[in-house]
Formats: sequence, C-alpha cells, structure tokens
Amino acid sequence: MLHTARQSFVAGLAYGLNKSLLMLSESDVLAPLDYRDLLRRYDNARNAKTELDVWLDPVEKEFARETDQAKSRAHTIRLASELKGLRFGEYIAENESRDKLDACFVPTAAYNAAIEGTTTLFVGRKGSGKSANLLRLERELAGDSRNLVCVIKPVAYEMQGLVDLLRKYEKRDSKGYAVDALWKYVLYTEIARTLRARLDKRHNSTWTDSEQWFGQYVDQQGDIILDDFSVRLENCVDLLLEGRTGEWEDKVKDTRLGISEALHVNALGGLLKALGPAMERIGRVCILIDNLDKAWERSADISVLAELILGLLGIAQRVPRDLRLGKVGGRAVEASLAVFLRSDIFDNVRRVAREPDKLLSTRLDWSDPEMLVRVLEERFMVGREDSADPRQLWDRYFCESVQGKSTREYLLSTILPRPRDLIFFTNACVSVAVNRGHGRVEPGDIEEAEKQYSQYALESVLVESTGEEIDMEGVTFAFADGEQVVSETDVTDVLSGAGVSAKEHLRVIDRLCGLTFLGPEVGDGIYNYCEDAQAYKLAQVRASSFARRSERGRRWRIHPAFCGFLEVGRESD
Ligand SMILES: Nc1ncnc2c1ncn2[C@@H]1O[C@H](COP(=O)(O)OP(=O)(O)OP(=O)(O)O)[C@@H](O)[C@H]1O
Ligand SMILES: [Mg+2]
Repeated sequence: MLHTARQSFVAGLAYGLNKSLLMLSESDVLAPLDYRDLLRRYDNARNAKTELDVWLDPVEKEFARETDQAKSRAHTIRLASELKGLRFGEYIAENESRDKLDACFVPTAAYNAAIEGTTTLFVGRKGSGKSANLLRLERELAGDSRNLVCVIKPVAYEMQGLVDLLRKYEKRDSKGYAVDALWKYVLYTEIARTLRARLDKRHNSTWTDSEQWFGQYVDQQGDIILDDFSVRLENCVDLLLEGRTGEWEDKVKDTRLGISEALHVNALGGLLKALGPAMERIGRVCILIDNLDKAWERSADISVLAELILGLLGIAQRVPRDLRLGKVGGRAVEASLAVFLRSDIFDNVRRVAREPDKLLSTRLDWSDPEMLVRVLEERFMVGREDSADPRQLWDRYFCESVQGKSTREYLLSTILPRPRDLIFFTNACVSVAVNRGHGRVEPGDIEEAEKQYSQYALESVLVESTGEEIDMEGVTFAFADGEQVVSETDVTDVLSGAGVSAKEHLRVIDRLCGLTFLGPEVGDGIYNYCEDAQAYKLAQVRASSFARRSERGRRWRIHPAFCGFLEVGRESD
C-alpha cells in the first residue's frame, strides 16, 4: 500500500509538471477517485505491453528529436565559432601585417616584371594591388643585401604643395625645368639618404675610402639630404614658392638659375660625384614609388598634377639609365625604378603628354577569375597544413549555390575584378553570417553582404572619376531602380534626367564604360566591361556592328557590382 502511495505521489508530481505520464494498474484495483480517470488498466501481460507501447512510442520519438536538435545546435555553435575565426585579412595593403602579406601574396606577371626591373610604370585600378606589389617587392628586393631599396610615398599635402608651386610658373619650359629638377633632386637625395643609413649599420672603421668621402660629404650638406623626404620636399617648395626677397624672388620666379639655386642643384652635382664611387658594394639601386594619387582627390588642378607626374615618368626613365651608364660619379651601377599609378590618373597623364604612345606601362590585370580567386584561397591556406585543399573553403564555409550559380562563381561574377573587392565582399559575407549565428555563409547572408559591397564599389569608382566636370555620383544614382540592361533611349532619358546636356551624352557614356559601370553589348547578351582604352575601342566597334546586325539598337548592361546598392534587378547572365 505504501508502495502505491509513493508511486501515486510521483505520478502526481509528473502530472502537475506536465510531463508525459502513464499510470498502469491491473483492472481489478479500485483506484482513488482523484486519479482514477488517468489510470490505464490491463487484464494480462500482453495487454499491459500494448498499453505501454502506445504510450512509449511518441515519447521515444520526441526524445530522439530533442537529442538530435541539441546535437545540431552544438554543431552549429561549433561551426559558427570556426566561421568567426575565418579571416581573409585587411582590404588595404598598408593595414595588413607584412608577414601575412608575404605568406599569401599571389605573384602576377606585373610583379615578376618589377622584380626583373624590366618595366617602369605599373598601372592599376583602385584596389588592384599597387601598394601590395610595392610592399612585397620591397621585402623581396631588400632580402638581397646587394640591393639598395628606396621607397618614395608622398603624402597628400606634399603633392598639393608641388601643384601650388607649379601653378606659379607661367612659361612652359620653366615649368618643365622645375619639375625635372625637382624630381631629380628628390630621387638622388633619397638614394643618398638610404645609402647613408645603410653605411650607419657598419662601424665606420670598416668603410672604404669612397664610403668615408661620401659619408663626410652627406654630413656636411646636412638637412638638404638627410631630412625626411617630406621635409626636404617642403623646404624646396617653400623656397621656390615664396622665394626670399627682392632680387632672389625675381630670380626664382621663372628662371632656370633661380630654380637651380632653390633646389640645390649645385649641391646635387657634388652629391652625385660622391655617390657613384660610394656605391661600390651595391649591385642594384631599386626605387619604388607609390601613392602619387593622394592629392588627386582634393586637387582642383588635375592638369597640373598630371604634368607633375608626367615629369616624374620622364625622370624615372633617365635616372636609372644615368646610373647604369656610370653618369653618376663615374661608376656604373644597375638600377631600376617602379612607379605604381592609378589607371584613371594615368589616363589624365596621357592626355597632357606630347607623345602618349611613348608612355609604356604594365597593367595590374585581374581579368582571369581563377587567378583572382587565388588571392582569397591563399589567405585561407595561411596557417593550414600543406595537405589542406583550397576547395575546403567553399565546401565548409559557404553554401553551395546562390541564385542558381555556385557560390564561388556568384561572388566572382558580382565583383569588379580586383583583389580588394573580393576581400571586402567575402569579409562582409562572413561578418553577416557570424552576426546571424550561422555556421556557414548562407544565400541570405550573401545577399545582405552584397548590399554593403555594392555601396563600397560605387564609392570606389566615384573616387576614380575625380576631376570629372560632370557630377558622376548624380549620374550613377540616376540609374537606380531601373533595369540592368538599358537601351540607347533608356540611357538618354537617364542622363537627361541627371541634368547632362545632350551634347555631353556620348562622352558621359564613354566615361561610364571606362569606369566599368556600363558594359556595351558586343554579342547577343554578351557585355564587355573594359578596363583599358584599347579594349574599349575594340568593344565599341564590335558593339556598333552587333547593333546593326541585330537591328535592335545599342544596349548596355550595368555591372552587377552596382545593382545591390542601386536596387537594380539583376538579370541572369
Ligand atoms: N597579388 C596579390 N596577392 C595577394 N593579395 C593582394 C595582391 N594584390 C592585392 N592584394 C590585396 O588586395 C587588397 C588591395 O590592394 P592594395 O591596397 O595594394 O590596392 P591599391 O592598388 O594600392 O589601391 P589604392 O589605389 O586604393 O591605393 C589588399 O588587401 C592587398 O593585400
Ligand atoms: Mg595603395
């Protein structure tokens, strides 16, 4: 009896707590009234088992479901924390750790040319890897102690100072002379400063005679060589800009003599005599220049800035040649110079050049998607075993497909083909998925990340259109909420709506194609987004002939990179 009372008590608790409950008793037991209705009765063992099975089956199923759910929750949490640890690094080369960049750098044809020293000018769009190439080159070249590596990266106000200076020159030849003298001064003093710093690493009792002579010469000249690049440049600019008083000012204003005096050209002559022999232990002088675009965004005087860069490109050919030919202090030394320049700026420089075809350049080209995706996959592989497979990145961390395409293909077909865009977009995908507690990046995460990426992509191409008289932001925004494929009438309507006069329409369309915002249709449903002028010329010819053949007029397609932000419906390609 006591036993039954205890069981009844426990069953009562279970009932009160809403637990699954089965109370079984033989059919002849008269149960108390309060739970008599809950009691299931049996006459024999089989009967009892049937009662039990009927009750147990859903309980077991529910238990199994809950266990599975708990397991899958734990699995998702583990995946989510692994996903959180997935890092593709910074999308600006200067912000990346040098070791990481070294480990995941993808050598391109342009990089190999720069190592060889065969090309001088490297041209690439924003985020195409100009700074990354320079940083990697610097490390690689500095690894050989016979190389003397000089890196020049002017900051914005320095370039602006130079622009202000050049505007003061009225005569074209004085301006040209000032530009040449200035860059020569900058490059040679930079070589001297780097060599002086290199000598300091050895005790001066080990210096050769010519090194002693050079060291003394540089120390005598003091600040005009040893100051920081920016201070040296600022001093020159100040001297040339303000001059001193009276006679000096007139001399400085527009004469070669004045320019020479202000830029210490005579002192430079002495420096070169001392510099040549002191480079006896140097196998190759490597000068690397980046960030010439820093004043571009603010400068109102693009053509002057373009002339300044044109001057540098001229000197960039001459300085290494003079070094090689032994014109510097009578000692021949191998030399190379690599200038990294943004492509829109290069287009402006070509415009002011007398012979633009002589400006030979190498493009940082990422039109091959398989090469571009390596930028991401190499980052994934850093710190993993050699046997790891880059495909794991896609299998483990990303959903299989988005909008009918494999995720890898979808990401590559959405972005502008530049390493920064790929890193930005995938980082955004991972952040969205992590914030949503997902174990891998799901299609919805990619769609959300695409909006963030798309806004960034549009901002970045607008930077590339600085100096344009037309409000390019207004023009691109005017395509919002429309179709991705636009006919000639559509484009005309959009441009007129954005306040562009009819006579400017063709030029603005060319500009939009130059920014790869629009791609002309060159075949049925085939659109070409052209990164360089030559390719665009060819695309235009193909587009006209296709329009004639198809009899439906010219069409363009907005690049998928911009559709997310502008809320333009993407067509399947
Ligand atoms: N060859 C490469 N291998 C690996 N990563 C690269 C490579 N090229 C570029 N990247 C990465 O792509 C991102 C953008 O590159 P970077 O900052 O060098 O562009 P940039 O051309 O200097 O742009 P900007 O014109 O804005 O200065 C960086 O994170 C950089 O490390
Ligand atoms: Mg850069």
